[in-house]
Amino acid sequence: MAPPLSILLCLLFSCSLFFPLSSSASLGPVSLPLHRLSLAPHPEPFQRLAGLANASVFRASLLKNPKSAAHRARTRLFPHSYGGYSLTFAFGTPPQNIPLLLDTGSQLTWIPCTTSYQCRRCASPANPAGPSAVFLPKSSSSVRLIGCRNPKCSWIHPPELLSRCKDCPSTNNSSSSGCPVVCPPYVLIYGSGSTAGVLLSESLSLPGRTATDFAVGCSVYSDRQPAGGIAGFGRGAPSIPAQLGLKRFSYCLISRQFDDDAAESGSVVLDGARDSSADAVSFTPFLKNPSLSASGANLSAFSVYYYVGLRKITVGGENVKIPNSMLVPGPDGSGGTIVDSGTTFTYMEPAVLKPVAAAFTDRLAGRLNRSTTVERLAGLRPCFALPAAAAAAKQLELPEMVLHFKGGAKMRLPLENYFAFARESRETAAVCLTVVSDSGVAGGPAIILGNFQQQNYYMVYDLERERLGFRRQSCIGS
Ligand SMILES: *[C@@H]1O[C@H](CO)[C@@H](O)[C@H](O)[C@H]1NC(C)=O
Ligand SMILES: *[C@@H]1O[C@H](CO)[C@@H](O)[C@H](O)[C@H]1NC(C)=O
Ligand SMILES: *[C@@H]1O[C@H](CO)[C@@H](O)[C@H](O)[C@H]1NC(C)=O
Ligand SMILES: *[C@@H]1O[C@H](CO)[C@@H](O)[C@H](O)[C@H]1NC(C)=O
Ligand SMILES: *[C@@H]1O[C@H](CO)[C@@H](O)[C@H](O)[C@H]1NC(C)=O
Repeated sequence: MAPPLSILLCLLFSCSLFFPLSSSASLGPVSLPLHRLSLAPHPEPFQRLAGLANASVFRASLLKNPKSAAHRARTRLFPHSYGGYSLTFAFGTPPQNIPLLLDTGSQLTWIPCTTSYQCRRCASPANPAGPSAVFLPKSSSSVRLIGCRNPKCSWIHPPELLSRCKDCPSTNNSSSSGCPVVCPPYVLIYGSGSTAGVLLSESLSLPGRTATDFAVGCSVYSDRQPAGGIAGFGRGAPSIPAQLGLKRFSYCLISRQFDDDAAESGSVVLDGARDSSADAVSFTPFLKNPSLSASGANLSAFSVYYYVGLRKITVGGENVKIPNSMLVPGPDGSGGTIVDSGTTFTYMEPAVLKPVAAAFTDRLAGRLNRSTTVERLAGLRPCFALPAAAAAAKQLELPEMVLHFKGGAKMRLPLENYFAFARESRETAAVCLTVVSDSGVAGGPAIILGNFQQQNYYMVYDLERERLGFRRQSCIGS
């Protein structure tokens, strides 16, 4: 599946681009608009929920599986209704704008590359970004291929593969002699999707600053991927925060009610001012990532994630009984909570969702009936059927859900962040808890806090002080 490298490279670039890399300077804060990736234009409500639920479950199965994670970049199936958020980065000289999916669950940034870029079964282009943009290396004067001896090459290849190029004399340029000169192409396989290309060093222009020597994947072939590329904001050397030396980054995700509104956007801020204690941001520390299991399984793949200490969940003011093994990551890497911008609906292991769902069902007993019909259609549960009067009413009272984090931070979710109002017809209206379960993969994080639950929250990843901060606010134009 890997393209024939030497031919490909000489076609795409000039053939003498193996320069040593310099390092980029760190400058002031940068703010970028953040758009919602649009959903299918006018989907049936239940179908739309089902599509998002499906994508969320699939995403969870990838994040939880250290084998798929071992490819060091993860993504997911992108049905057309994939609910992510995109930002636009400018690569090259002169700059070319490429929309990317904001992903705190993966570390390598890659972009669709060259006019012959092929994307099979990929999501349709994001509305705000217009037609899917590809990066043209030939039109950039600052593009460089990453050499095989460049330490950055080890970001995408295992040491065994690279020992081959270490043994080659540095004066020997001949790739036909079995001595690879440039970093061999990557093929990242994610579940049923994949992307393949070569690693480039390119300049990344941000408002007010330019990072030269940014290592970015130039993908020439993808299967089941987003329309643009992926911006890897996870932990690890290839990630955007690590390459740019960010002390913190933050984002504010606008409400999904603006799904098809290209004029509205939230934002990502790189290296913004540190929040003062007075501005109502609640903080909880990032936890240490599980690394090696007792059985010796290599869990370093999980080192990309941002783990937080979710201590308890309350529904309607009452504590939900959740097994401790779910809340605390064990030595085998199972359990614990991660925050992920690339997951739509929050994922909970069955052992977590069951008592949470039961708590809602109990609190609503006598007021609303559960509807298994709607649950089947929407791919979510629990769903509660709304009698006509309730469906027509402007407001509906549902139990409050609060996430309690280590250090006392409480995320008191607004109703629209954990319940969806679905309607198929005048007769069939329901509310569904927007949490998915049953990924089919045992192990890995037990709870994945998705972007639906982060709507209208300012979320700050304070990497300097190893903590996550959040505050409820309107994210429009923020
Ligand atoms: C290696 O490549 C450089 C730059 O392309 C060239 O100047 C040099 O002659 C090559 N060396 C060998 C041994 O082929
Ligand atoms: C979820 O995805 C699977 C596989 O792509 C598909 O067969 C199924 O119909 C989808 N379910 C929903 C509810 O969209
Ligand atoms: C280049 O490397 C190959 C394989 O290691 C070797 O056969 C060849 O002699 C080398 N050429 C030079 C000029 O060192
Ligand atoms: C685990 O995997 C990572 C990357 O794949 C590697 O760097 C590390 O050495 C491995 N650790 C062990 C103990 O195998
Ligand atoms: C719940 O279901 C029961 C039995 O079908 C029905 O009598 C009752 O009216 C329903 N309640 C609501 C609020 O829909």
